[in-house]
Amino acid sequence: MGKTGLQLSVLSFGSWVTFHKQIDDSISDELMGIAYDNGINFFDNAEVYAAGESEKMMGRALKKKSWDRTSYIVSSKAFFGWRGKQNKPNQTGLSRKHLMEACHEALQRLQIDYLDLFFCHRPDKAVPIEEVVWTMNILIQQGKILYWGTSEWSAAEIMEAHRVAAQLKLIGPAMEQPQYNLLEREKMEKEYVDIFRTVGMGTTIWSPLASGLLTGKYNNGIPEGSRFALEGFDWLVQRWLQEDKLERVRKLTAFAGELGTPVSTLAIAWTIANPNVTTAILGATKKEQLVENLKALEVLPKLTPDVLQQIDEIVGTKPALPEY
Ligand SMILES: NC(=O)c1ccc[n+]([C@@H]2O[C@H](COP(=O)([O-])OP(=O)(O)OC[C@H]3O[C@@H](n4cnc5c(N)ncnc54)[C@H](OP(=O)(O)O)[C@@H]3O)[C@@H](O)[C@H]2O)c1
Repeated sequence: MGKTGLQLSVLSFGSWVTFHKQIDDSISDELMGIAYDNGINFFDNAEVYAAGESEKMMGRALKKKSWDRTSYIVSSKAFFGWRGKQNKPNQTGLSRKHLMEACHEALQRLQIDYLDLFFCHRPDKAVPIEEVVWTMNILIQQGKILYWGTSEWSAAEIMEAHRVAAQLKLIGPAMEQPQYNLLEREKMEKEYVDIFRTVGMGTTIWSPLASGLLTGKYNNGIPEGSRFALEGFDWLVQRWLQEDKLERVRKLTAFAGELGTPVSTLAIAWTIANPNVTTAILGATKKEQLVENLKALEVLPKLTPDVLQQIDEIVGTKPALPEY
C-alpha cells in the first residue's frame, strides 16, 4: 500500500449502502466468505454506514468466521458521526475527542482489538491539522490503529498533513480513499499525480462502478431492487442518471461485448489497471455480482494500450494535463 509495507489485495470488499440497509447477516456472511476465499484481504467500513449497524454486522461476520486476525485488514472512517441529524457538536469531525471516540466505538462494534486502517472520512476545516496528525499518531502508539489516511482530501490538504508530520517527526497519512471510475478521474489522474511521485500514497478506491451505473443496469431505466431505486438515494440518482453519462455507458457496454466481457467487469479491470491504485473496493448485494466482479482480474490482461485508448475515446473523460 503506497510506501508502506502493508500488502492489500487488489480487489477488496466494502459495506456502504449494502450492509444492514440491503442485506442481512446471512448474505453479508456469505459475501465476505466468497471474498476471502478468493483472496480478498481488505474489508472496508465507516462509523456512518447504516448509523453504526454496518460495523456491527461486519463484526458479527468476522467473529463467526474465526479467520486468523493476521490474515485480513479492516478499516473504519470517522468524520460524519453515526447519529445522523441527532449528531451533537463533538460527535462529528476530526477533533481529538471525536477521532478517539470514533475509534473506540468502531473497535467495539467490529469486535476487534485494532483497526488496520483508520481514515479521516473528509477534511475538517474547523480542526488544526496538527491536532489530526497528533491524534492519529497517538492512536498508532496505543496500538489501536496501524495506518492512518484520508478520504476525499485535496492534494494540498494531504501535503499539509505531510508537512506537519515531517516537522513534528510524526507519521503522515499513508493512504487516501478517493472515488475513481471511468466517469470520475480528476483526482487520481491529475490532482494527486505529484503526491504519487514524491511522498507516495496508497489508494483504496471507492465506487469503481459509479454505484452500479457502469454495470449497464441503468441503461434503460431503474430496475426494481437496485441502489437507485432505494428510498433516500435521490441525490445519487440525480448525480449519475444523466443522459450524457448513460450514453457513454451504453457505448461502453457495446464495446465490452466486443471484448467478450460484461461492462461491469471491464470497468473494474480498468480501475485497477492504473498503477497508482492499491485496491478497488467492491460493493455487492448478491453473490452473482461479486463473482462477476472478481473476474476483473481475468479481464485485466485484455487492457492493452490500444484497448485503453479506445476506452478513452468512448468515454471522453480523461483529464487534460498541462503540456509542460
Ligand atoms: N470513502 C468514501 O467516501 C466512500 C464512499 C462510497 C463508498 N465507499 C466504499 O467503497 C465501497 C464500494 O463502493 P460502492 O458500493 O459504491 O461500489 P460500486 O462498485 O460503485 O457499486 C456497488 C453496487 O453496484 C451494484 N452492482 C455491483 N456489481 C454489480 C454487477 N456485477 N451487476 C449488477 N449490479 C452490480 C450493487 O448495487 P445494487 O444491487 O443495489 O444495485 C452494488 O452494491 C463501499 O462499500 C465503501 O466501503 C467509500
